[in-house]
Amino acid sequence: MEVLRLRLVVAVLVLLASSAAAARAPPRIAPLPTAALRRLYDTSNYGKLQLNNGLALTPQMGWNSWNFFACNINETVIRETADALVSTGLATLGYNYVNIDDCWSYVTRGKKGQLLPDPKTFPSGIKALADYVHGKGLKLGIYSDAGVSTCQVRPGSLFHENDDAALFASWGVDYLKYDNCYNLGIKPEKRLQNSYALVMYPPMRDALNSTGRQIFYSLCEWGQDDPALWAGKVGNSWRTTDDIVDTWKSMTDIADKNNKWASYAGPGGWNDPDMLEVGNGGMTSAEYRSHFSIWALMKAPLLIGCDVRNMTSETLEILSNKEVIQVNQDPLGVQGRRILGEGKYGCCEFITMSNLQCNLLSQVWAGPLSENRLVVALWNRCSETANFTIKLPAVGLDGSSAYSVRDLWQKEDELHALPVLDAALKMDSPAPEKKRSERRRHAAVLGSQALEQKSDQTPALSSPPN
Ligand code: GLA
Repeated sequence: MEVLRLRLVVAVLVLLASSAAAARAPPRIAPLPTAALRRLYDTSNYGKLQLNNGLALTPQMGWNSWNFFACNINETVIRETADALVSTGLATLGYNYVNIDDCWSYVTRGKKGQLLPDPKTFPSGIKALADYVHGKGLKLGIYSDAGVSTCQVRPGSLFHENDDAALFASWGVDYLKYDNCYNLGIKPEKRLQNSYALVMYPPMRDALNSTGRQIFYSLCEWGQDDPALWAGKVGNSWRTTDDIVDTWKSMTDIADKNNKWASYAGPGGWNDPDMLEVGNGGMTSAEYRSHFSIWALMKAPLLIGCDVRNMTSETLEILSNKEVIQVNQDPLGVQGRRILGEGKYGCCEFITMSNLQCNLLSQVWAGPLSENRLVVALWNRCSETANFTIKLPAVGLDGSSAYSVRDLWQKEDELHALPVLDAALKMDSPAPEKKRSERRRHAAVLGSQALEQKSDQTPALSSPPN
C-alpha cells in the first residue's frame, strides 16, 4: 500500500507564484482525477461565464475598512493600515489589497460632476494614498455603488460609470467594490435572466475595462439576484449574502448560504460570503478559527476586517496561518463544500426567547486541492462534544489506500493517531467549559483574555494527499 506524503508548503507556494504571474492565462479548473471526486465536488457550472480580465486566479486577499471602522475612516487610518500589513508580515503572506469602503467621498460631486474625496478626512486625495500604498508594495481598493448613492449616501456611480472608472484609474486604483444601494429599482430594458443586476453591473465592468488599467471588480449586490448564475462574466467576485455581523450565528448562517453556490466558483471569479470578522471581539478565538478555516476552504476572499494596527497575538496568529492560507490560495481553485452534516436537532439553542435554532452538530466540509490533496474540516457547530468518524469514501477518497494527514492548526502530521487503515478519520471535539453564549459575554467583557478559553469549535483542517 503506497503512503503518499504531503508536499512541502514551500513547493506549493512556488507553484502559486508562477501561476499568478501567468497573466491572462485562461482561468479553468482542471478535471478532478476520479469519478468520486467529480461527483462530490461538482465544478460543472464554472467556466461558462468567465470575465477573464487576468485577475483573481486565486481569491483576493487584503483588508477592508468597513467591518471595524464603518464611516470612521481617514487617510491616516489607511496609511497606518498599510504600514501594519507590512510590519506584521501579513502583506508577505498575501494580504495585498488595502480597500477603502464607503464614506471616503464627499457628499456631493464637484462642479464638473466628478467624485471628490472628502476634504476633511482625505485632504491629500486618493492619488497620494495610492502612491503611498503602492510604495509599500501593496494595492489600493476603492468603493462605489451601482445606484445613485452609496449606502451611506455619498454619490453613487449610476450613469457616471465611464467618468468614475477613468478617475479611479487615473488615481492608480487597483480594486473596486461596487455596492447596490439606491439602485432606483431599475429594471432592465432588455431583461436577461430576470435580473436588474445585469443592467446595473455590466456598465461599470465595461467602463473599468476601457480604462486599460487592471482593476479587480468586486460585485456587492448581496446575493439578491443569485449572482453566481450570471456574475462570472461581469466581475471577479460577487457577494452571495447580506452583510456579515461579528457573531457565531451570522458567520455560520452565511457559510451555509454561500455553500449553495460552490460549483460556480473558480479561478477568475469567486463567491464572496463577505469580509472577515476575525479579531473584532464578537466571537471567541476558537470561533474565529472556525470562521477563518471555513472561509479558506470555501475559497472566499480573505479580506481582513479588523484594526490590524491593534491586533491581539491570537488574531495575528489566526490570520497568519500559512497552511490555511495555502488552502485558500490553492491553484486548483475548487470551492470546498459541506459534505456531511449529522445530528440534526442534536444541538439547539435559543437565539432569542422566541427563536430556537437547531444546528447539524457534526459537519464535514471538504474540497479537493492541487497535487492530489484534499482538505477536510471537521466542524463542531455546537457547544457540546462531537465525535467524528468519517469513512474516507464519504469525502471522495479511495478507502483502500493509505494517506498522510496533517492538522493545519495543530501543525501535526498523523492527526490524533489517525486510524487510516480503517479508512476513517476519527476525532473528538471536546465539550467546552462554558456555553458559547456565556463565552461570548466574557469575550465582550474581558477582551483578549477570554479569547484563550476554548478551542472546541475549531475545525481540524487536514490535507491528506491522494
Ligand atoms: C453595504 C455593503 C457593506 C458595506 C456597506 C457600506 O451594506 O454590503 O459591505 O460596504 O454597504 O455602506
